[in-house]
Amino acid sequence: MSVEGRALPGPPGIPVLGSMLTFARRGVFDTFTKLHAEYGDFARLRLPGGKIAAAIAHPDGAERILRERRHNYIKGPTYDPIRLITGTNLVTAEGAAWAWRRRLAQPAFTRAGVAKLLEAMGSCVDAMVERWARRYADGRPFDLQRELVALTMRIVGRTLFGVELAGEGAESSGRAFDAALSIVHARGAASVALPLAIPTPSNLRLRRALATLHQEVEAIIARARAGEGQDTLLSALLHARDPETGAALDAIQLRDEVIMLYLAGHETTATLLTWTFWALARAPEAMEELLAEADRSGDPGPVTPELFESLPWTRQVLQEVLRLHPPAPLVPRTVVEDDVLGGYRIPAGAHAVLHVYTLHRHPEFWESPAAFRPERFADAAISAQHRYAYLPFSAGPRTCIGNTFALWESQLALARILRRFVVELDPRAPLRLAASTIHRPAGGVTARLRSRPASDGATRGAAEPA
Ligand code: HEM
Repeated sequence: MSVEGRALPGPPGIPVLGSMLTFARRGVFDTFTKLHAEYGDFARLRLPGGKIAAAIAHPDGAERILRERRHNYIKGPTYDPIRLITGTNLVTAEGAAWAWRRRLAQPAFTRAGVAKLLEAMGSCVDAMVERWARRYADGRPFDLQRELVALTMRIVGRTLFGVELAGEGAESSGRAFDAALSIVHARGAASVALPLAIPTPSNLRLRRALATLHQEVEAIIARARAGEGQDTLLSALLHARDPETGAALDAIQLRDEVIMLYLAGHETTATLLTWTFWALARAPEAMEELLAEADRSGDPGPVTPELFESLPWTRQVLQEVLRLHPPAPLVPRTVVEDDVLGGYRIPAGAHAVLHVYTLHRHPEFWESPAAFRPERFADAAISAQHRYAYLPFSAGPRTCIGNTFALWESQLALARILRRFVVELDPRAPLRLAASTIHRPAGGVTARLRSRPASDGATRGAAEPA
């Protein structure tokens, strides 16, 4: 079907390689940011083989892609690089295979489902806070980002898989995820990505990283099969039967599901928390308010959903950080049939890439877009926002299943950390971004702690051996 519409504007690109040299020079993140700055909300890049990437940074375009015409914007081949590490799973599957997986996982992620996980989340946070008190309370510098990755990994392990993910196994899977994501990211931006079977240096590194991940995840599954961790999402997956065929997930399907939950469930939330401390180092007033709220909240006690009602400013801070520094800045799709977005022709077969980062800083929809203002997310202010101008978790049926999980986990971690410590980051320290599909700082973030005077005695939260 041919449709009307203007051609998308964009740089010429060179024959055969298109804009791939720009990708290689600037990285994917900068390429999209500069593309929108130069060509507007709807623009395109040329890709090898005559294809294009249509980049969209307007809420109307987002609404059409994620809701109105969502069947025309599928995950499709655009997700092949990520399928390389995670196979077919809740994030990468489509159609009936996706719907079944979503139904299976959904109960664990409703508010009632996440409420059951709060106690375990709280004890993981407390264990980290106690360890920080022992190791870093004297003000010695430490890598905050690494600590937060270890925390979110441990929370996923305990809450979703019923196992302890800590120590060398978790560290080596963390490194393997990093390596795999950056290689996959580079493959996505490369003009030619050779099949994994060809032993190029980067393919060999990817194969090693995948072997480490498979080993770690298979060990987690074996522990769950042996009865560790009852009543978890993993135990539900172990017993699940396909509604059409009656078949259970086979060993590879199960492994691919667990790898994806492991990855999606920890890296993004750790990144949100890291950006939060980074932003707060530049916003002392917001930080003061946060400390006061953490003290007022009455936590620690048993963690229940009511706790989060007493932490509204903490939520607003996190929402504003998600606006300015969305951990998932690109939401990509494959276009099935020609379409028109914002008056521009979007051809079948193109990649359509929602550039959430630019959308979140769109001056028509955000006043002083670069300013850090958590008050934008006060209840009364939210209703004035365009629903599709704010998409840290995307929207529509494929919206992030873990958004309540991530927000509650982050509120809890932030409040409990700040009741005990002032976390100091050097606001002048240079920031380099990682070459990754996740928008995060590269090479760690150095922080120092200052202990805060206890407002409720020394027993803030039951510590666990770390
Ligand atoms: C701050 C933290 C997080 C951010 C920013 C984030 C962001 C996103 C985004 C942008 C998507 C893509 C939606 C799309 O393609 O339209 C997504 C999907 C998904 N996320 Fe998250 N996420 C976060 C935390 C989590 C957590 C904690 C979990 C699990 C424990 C999780 C599990 C998933 C899954 C399974 C999907 C695929 C859902 C589907 O296609 O049905 N995420 N997330």
